[in-house]
Amino acid sequence: MGNTLRIGIIGAGSVARRIHAPGLRLCEDVKIVAVADPDAEAAASLKAPEIHADYRELLARPDVDAVVIAVPNNQHREIALAALAAGKHTLCEKPLAMNAAEAEEMLEAAQKSGVIHMTAFTYGFTPSARYLTHLVRQGELGEIRSVRAAYLMALSKHLLGWRSRRELAGSGVLGDIGSHLIHIVLELAGDIKTLSARQKDFRKDPTSDVEDWIAFLAEFENGACGTFEISRVCPGRGADVTEDMFIEIYGTKGGAVFSMQEPRALQVCLGARADEPANQLERVQIPQDWWKLPGAPRHVSEGDPRWSYRFDQAWRFVSAIREGAAPEPSFEAGLRTQRVLDAALASAASGAWTPVGA
Ligand SMILES: NC(=O)c1ccc[n+]([C@@H]2O[C@H](COP(=O)([O-])OP(=O)(O)OC[C@H]3O[C@@H](n4cnc5c(N)ncnc54)[C@H](O)[C@@H]3O)[C@@H](O)[C@H]2O)c1
Repeated sequence: MGNTLRIGIIGAGSVARRIHAPGLRLCEDVKIVAVADPDAEAAASLKAPEIHADYRELLARPDVDAVVIAVPNNQHREIALAALAAGKHTLCEKPLAMNAAEAEEMLEAAQKSGVIHMTAFTYGFTPSARYLTHLVRQGELGEIRSVRAAYLMALSKHLLGWRSRRELAGSGVLGDIGSHLIHIVLELAGDIKTLSARQKDFRKDPTSDVEDWIAFLAEFENGACGTFEISRVCPGRGADVTEDMFIEIYGTKGGAVFSMQEPRALQVCLGARADEPANQLERVQIPQDWWKLPGAPRHVSEGDPRWSYRFDQAWRFVSAIREGAAPEPSFEAGLRTQRVLDAALASAASGAWTPVGA
């Protein structure tokens, strides 16, 4: 038991059941020792030895080394601050907070605590997204000029409930799925300087007070420009494992297209091929070494490749704790994305170009 890493899960809903618990259970010498959820049925579903209705009881346990916070967004701040104060390594769901001020407070508390902190930007673990980031950092695309980014899905039933309420979710489709897209684009193209957004609530659902479509035009700090569209009202764009996020990125030396539906392939036009204007993007499989994080315990032939990479997130958290090294994406990445969410909401409300706060 000496080397066993003991985890507590706070919030035993959909993401805990489908991503966190299975990911953690793949890791050697890792045990989910306790779960906290006021919903007894949800708490029991994770089959942990100890169950608490109140997360404070879980945080008081000396036999919990680290926690996963997977509750509705309006509770991330309170629970993360309590977890950090209790000295627990903390993996918190996205969007990290309700706004950038909260995210700043959480990052500051995390840095002071000295524990490992991480934001669950799960889709950044898509092998093709990691490989594309690698290509961009190697300079294969040259200087980035433009990005065309979209996360489109059809409406699915699980998106109703707390996600439809601003006071619980902070925003609608922007924070819910747009935060994943923005996180990856910032990794690829750097920070956004200013943006202009428009939003709609097309469904006019009386139980919802959040946007279900938002788009913005952005200027990056490095001079690149980008467009973003995030929607959950696109019939035919799928939901859950079939929903799609795609990012087109063009630089002085080449172009590439990422799609979440193609976790092991990219479309690229690079090198000498990019010098010939008639050449089109071509679909290439990414190298097999990139199909999972180095050392991750899962077998690449197991499960649907559009889902199984999500388990690498737990491996990243666990290895960072064991190595004492800051993991990516940390709370810092959570804050960086949150600043863009705040600016997009402010711009959609005012109609004005809005700087992204530093
Ligand atoms: N990273 C991803 O890919 C991904 C996917 C889905 C959801 N999420 C995020 O995960 C979080 C949870 O989403 P979900 O889809 O699992 O929601 P959900 O509604 O399915 O589950 C939330 C759970 O939290 C519990 N809960 C509420 N208050 C609590 C408290 N104070 N203490 C303990 N438990 C509490 C609820 O009873 C419920 O069981 C959200 O922040 C969401 O944005 C992330």
